[in-house]
Amino acid sequence: MNTTIQAGFLGMAVLVGGFAASAQTADQAWLRHGYFHGLPPVPMQVRALGHEQIEDTAVHVLAKGIKNLWGSSPVIGGKSTAEAIVVGTLDQMRSAYHAVDFPPKLSPEAFWIAESDTGGKRLLLIAGGSERGVLYGAFALVRKLSVSGWKPTTKISENPAMPIRWVDEWDNPDGSIERGYAGRSIFFEGGNVRQDLAPVGEYGRLLASVGINGVNVNNVNADARLLDSEHLKQLARVADALRPWGVRLAVSVKITSPQEIGGLATFDPLDPAVRAWWTAKTVEIYKLIPDFDGFTVKADSEGQPGPASYGRTPADAANLLAAALEPHGGVVLYRAFVYNHHLDWRDPKADRARAAYDIFQPLDGKFAANVIVQIKEGPIDFQAREPVSPLFAGLEKTNTAMELQVTQEYTGQQRHLVYLAPMWKLVLDFDLRGGGQSTPVKEILEGKAFHRSLGGMVAVAGVGQDAWLGSPLALANLYAFGRLAWNPDLTPEEIADEWTRQTFGSDPEVVQTVVKMLMQSWPAYENYTGPLGLQTLTDITGSHYGPNIEASERNGWGQWHRADKDGVGMDRSVATGTGYAGQYPPEVAKMFESAATTPDELLLFFHHVPYTYKLHSGKTVIQSLYDSHYEGAEQAAQFAHEWARLEGKIDQPLYEQVRDRLRYQAGHAIVWRDAIVQYFLKLSGIPDEKGRAGHYPGRLEAEDAQLTGYKVIDVKPWEDASGGKAVNCEEKICTAEWTWSGQPGRYNIAVQYFDLQGGVAHFTLTVNGQPAATWAADAILPSRRPHGDNSIRRIIQNLELKSGDFLRVEGVADGADPAAFDYIEVTPVPSHF
Ligand code: GCU
Repeated sequence: MNTTIQAGFLGMAVLVGGFAASAQTADQAWLRHGYFHGLPPVPMQVRALGHEQIEDTAVHVLAKGIKNLWGSSPVIGGKSTAEAIVVGTLDQMRSAYHAVDFPPKLSPEAFWIAESDTGGKRLLLIAGGSERGVLYGAFALVRKLSVSGWKPTTKISENPAMPIRWVDEWDNPDGSIERGYAGRSIFFEGGNVRQDLAPVGEYGRLLASVGINGVNVNNVNADARLLDSEHLKQLARVADALRPWGVRLAVSVKITSPQEIGGLATFDPLDPAVRAWWTAKTVEIYKLIPDFDGFTVKADSEGQPGPASYGRTPADAANLLAAALEPHGGVVLYRAFVYNHHLDWRDPKADRARAAYDIFQPLDGKFAANVIVQIKEGPIDFQAREPVSPLFAGLEKTNTAMELQVTQEYTGQQRHLVYLAPMWKLVLDFDLRGGGQSTPVKEILEGKAFHRSLGGMVAVAGVGQDAWLGSPLALANLYAFGRLAWNPDLTPEEIADEWTRQTFGSDPEVVQTVVKMLMQSWPAYENYTGPLGLQTLTDITGSHYGPNIEASERNGWGQWHRADKDGVGMDRSVATGTGYAGQYPPEVAKMFESAATTPDELLLFFHHVPYTYKLHSGKTVIQSLYDSHYEGAEQAAQFAHEWARLEGKIDQPLYEQVRDRLRYQAGHAIVWRDAIVQYFLKLSGIPDEKGRAGHYPGRLEAEDAQLTGYKVIDVKPWEDASGGKAVNCEEKICTAEWTWSGQPGRYNIAVQYFDLQGGVAHFTLTVNGQPAATWAADAILPSRRPHGDNSIRRIIQNLELKSGDFLRVEGVADGADPAAFDYIEVTPVPSHF
């Protein structure tokens, strides 16, 4: 017998992150650098023309960037006669260098970079429209140096596409983070702002490096107490930590605040006392934080109170706050995520997807000039795929911003590699054809399509103390968000390439492999979760993580896909369904109205069709469901193999963290695949024409083993376990044993077990009584019951087996973790091993 490479195991180290022990810095993300030899191609002196804090920051960005890349520090300041990189605003530049041909004008956040031979000395000039533009220019030069290098003839001139480029953090004052997957808050702890705000400053650096200019620091399900005087003083410290980076602070406010913390009898937006309260509160904020950015509002949504309590509209509430902010230059981001979560699922006309448009479109033109309606990219809630929200075209006289998620709530919670830029890009490029004209979403957000002055993109980021996003590769999403908000014309590949070079260096094999993996990751995830517009097919009332198909059905939350024995999909057509398709401008509405013209990837979002319906791909719906799940799981397995080739080419701890996550993902993709496939096989009764669904070569079920101490249990939902059943250890130590029959040879054995919270169970696999592997179930996964959230696979490789061998799993229960497992799977070692 010859053991063991351990695979498919998500240990503590993976979940806690390799950087947790050291200070949290922006260098742990894409600002790590450190790859070039020889002399830097730029002057080794850096100085600023002005004395503003942000210009000083820009100088230090350049000095640190060059030092990180080449290992030697340029001189800061120094003689004005020497060769130098010089930073300054356009006005400062003009007065310093009369002979240089600067651009006539730069908008405040824009920059211009070029070399000039002034008086025989080489100067690399970075001019900004304002200090903030100077800072963005400094970061752009560092990026250029790390990605494609600098030549004396290179010139860069850039201007952000949209003014609102914010991240929203859903942090609670107690330090927890709603839908955060990277540990505790960097902003709050124990009901207050944290004493140590060094990570906040580092976050500001990270954000500024990609041009993000605002951070909303608290949960949209807001705690009113954050607006009391004591907390406002604390928030001022957060603003101070962000200010050097040109990043401004915003907060989520609870619309009931005047009543809850102001002692008023009402929070009616039209009540003069309420208005006076907000005005005074806003004055108090600006005294403490003169560059405060504004408020975000979630109201009349998912249990949050709102203006509807008084028969008022979202415009009434938004304008109330807008009036208070307007004299100070602040803005209101009013979220269009307003819907009834007590819908009647029996009503074929009820449809949550309609809500945002039905509520907000009639208010077009009624919002104040400093209100921006913040619209989730799709009409439901950050699913693996949704059509773009029709509301973007429905608000021609209102400022709009697109909200998307960097934190991977429904897309694998950072345990799965899912690079979301390709999905966002589809939305940004989607031409809604408003008014029969070309109106791609990005042009709406840029203000070009409907001639609006304010608009932009907001990402729910969810950063925490665990290396920002917990997973090293997930940082590509934060990076991509910033880059797309700056320039939505960039392609996801270009962004992936830039991010990879800055994070891992420029080894061609590393760059090629990582970019390819990133680009394939969203399609893979969609394939093994909810393809054809089915949405993610996860537990929508709980963790939002593992498979749970019926969690979306027969409840008021309205994420229905209406699968029954004959067919699947929501009919959202105007002719026979909910009418949602009719919310799009006519040309797009026409496309979605008919199943024949709806793209395959969104078919089941718009139409209910039989399982035998033929897609444009030529496959039936059911066969396509089977195929995509097998393809997706295969793609996930491939990521782990591709990554393995990079060992030795990148930093080893980083390599190992990613390796462990990818192995885990490959195992969890199989859990997803099997759940969805066996569910639809049972429901439709239509077999997989390739014979895979329901057949698992080499699988030995726990419930069929000779059990000692283990008891057979029904897993809920049933599809999350092979055959719906698993075993729980109801004593301290339990065993399950099988007699193996098969050809003699080398095999891998996968043990599919459930790693529950509340204890650390241990497992041992033995062959003929000899231990082949022992491991602890110490991963941190959602839920305390065995199901798809915590079903995890460990692979013991390269065991020699012959017919008649005894295979045994021994489980040691601990606390609330009953060492439950589902099956073992014995498969021949692939020939390439
Ligand atoms: C999702 C998410 C919630 C969040 C909500 C929102 O539904 O699961 O946690 O509060 O979105 O965007 O407001």
